[in-house]
Amino acid sequence: MEKKTLNAGLVGYGMIGKVHAYSTAVLPWYAPELPVVGRIVAVATSRMETARRAQEQTGARDAYDDYRRITDDPAIDVVHICTPNAEHFHALIAAIRANKHIYCEKPLVASREEARELRKVLDETGYSRSCLVAHHLRGFAALRRAKELIDAGRLGRLVQYRVGYYHSSMLDPTAPWRWKHDVKGGTIFDLASHLLDLVDWLVGLPAEALAQSSLITPARPTRRLRAGENLADVPAQPVLAEDAVTIMTRGLKDAARVVERRPSDKLWEYPTREECDPKHMSLAVADPNDPAAITGVVEATKLMNGAEDELVLEISGTRGSIRFSLMNSHYLEFFDATVPHGDYGGDAGWKKIPGGARYPAPECDFPSPKSTTGWLRAHVASLAAFYRGIADGGVYGADFRQALKIQDALGAISDSAKTRSWVAL
Ligand SMILES: NC(=O)c1ccc[n+]([C@@H]2O[C@H](COP(=O)([O-])OP(=O)(O)OC[C@H]3O[C@@H](n4cnc5c(N)ncnc54)[C@H](O)[C@@H]3O)[C@@H](O)[C@H]2O)c1
Repeated sequence: MEKKTLNAGLVGYGMIGKVHAYSTAVLPWYAPELPVVGRIVAVATSRMETARRAQEQTGARDAYDDYRRITDDPAIDVVHICTPNAEHFHALIAAIRANKHIYCEKPLVASREEARELRKVLDETGYSRSCLVAHHLRGFAALRRAKELIDAGRLGRLVQYRVGYYHSSMLDPTAPWRWKHDVKGGTIFDLASHLLDLVDWLVGLPAEALAQSSLITPARPTRRLRAGENLADVPAQPVLAEDAVTIMTRGLKDAARVVERRPSDKLWEYPTREECDPKHMSLAVADPNDPAAITGVVEATKLMNGAEDELVLEISGTRGSIRFSLMNSHYLEFFDATVPHGDYGGDAGWKKIPGGARYPAPECDFPSPKSTTGWLRAHVASLAAFYRGIADGGVYGADFRQALKIQDALGAISDSAKTRSWVAL
């Protein structure tokens, strides 16, 4: 099979730009059967100095401080947009008008006005290239299995869900102001965008929502405090975005989509709205048998002390439930309510499905299907220890002399297994 390599340009090279560069570089190992892959040939950031650093790290041919050098370049096929939220729009429009394939960070754009304009440009240009928002959470094997279970009706009619994304980064009032504290950078756009995408993908977008947001630090220092300085010693800049949001949801915007995937065989029967005692109906949001009667809670916060990157998801249906936690992302938990309880519990209960790296083609073969999500990271750390030793002559792991002690022990253990006798290590 002939493989095609497209020229890709990276706009923005902060935390996530590096992730896009890394993913592009390693894709041929993870998905050897893909007939098309990319190669980063140009990088644009806001300053030439950072663009040059990015060029050095990525091996890109060109470095720019103006994204238009990428979107205007006819030799570039793919544009990655990895700039702060407020900067997506202009690069997006330029890339669409230049008819590039586009892989854009979330949120796609950062205001209603931008969304309206983007729709207009998509219609005007008839843009039909490949375009995707980097909602990487859909890439977890465990969540892809969740989608399969829901679509196969294994959870029955979905009745309730809870999704949460918990960070702690806004608790420290001395953390300096950055774009995440500006109007277009808040927690709704930053974290709830991920959650709503998951809700849309797995359940369906809600028909209605009621949100409450909060902000605990209305102004932040314009720079990091030096030793001995207090907050009052440094100029402050107002914070214009929320730290946290809790959203109650009800119904489904597109009920038809979900009705299609309900199985006809029901585990339990529910009374219809007409059969219910009217005095209790004020508690129901809709007909209990209406597939759109689902309610949910979507919570995104950067005020949860101790939280790292904690996303949790629970979806309950009439036939079963699923649970997922990003901090334990190897597994999807599944409760099948159709399995009856038996003596001492029988087979009923929560099952942990190991997703690991079990991806079907074209993403297969690498790494081993049973690999945990952090397994390859440990290999990178191991190789880094090796190169650190080359750089400064130190030893940062098991060198050959250390490893030979293990080798001797292995030999002795092999002898013990043969002779069935105690051996000295
Ligand atoms: N999918 C995820 O998991 C995830 C995680 C973090 C961030 N993000 C998203 O990625 C985007 C970037 O976040 P980040 O944390 O990497 O930000 P960052 O501040 O670390 O980096 C931003 C980069 O954009 C460059 N930049 C700024 N304005 C520019 C312009 N006009 N033209 C060209 N380059 C410009 C900066 O020089 C820098 O290289 C945001 O939209 C954010 O929401 C997504």
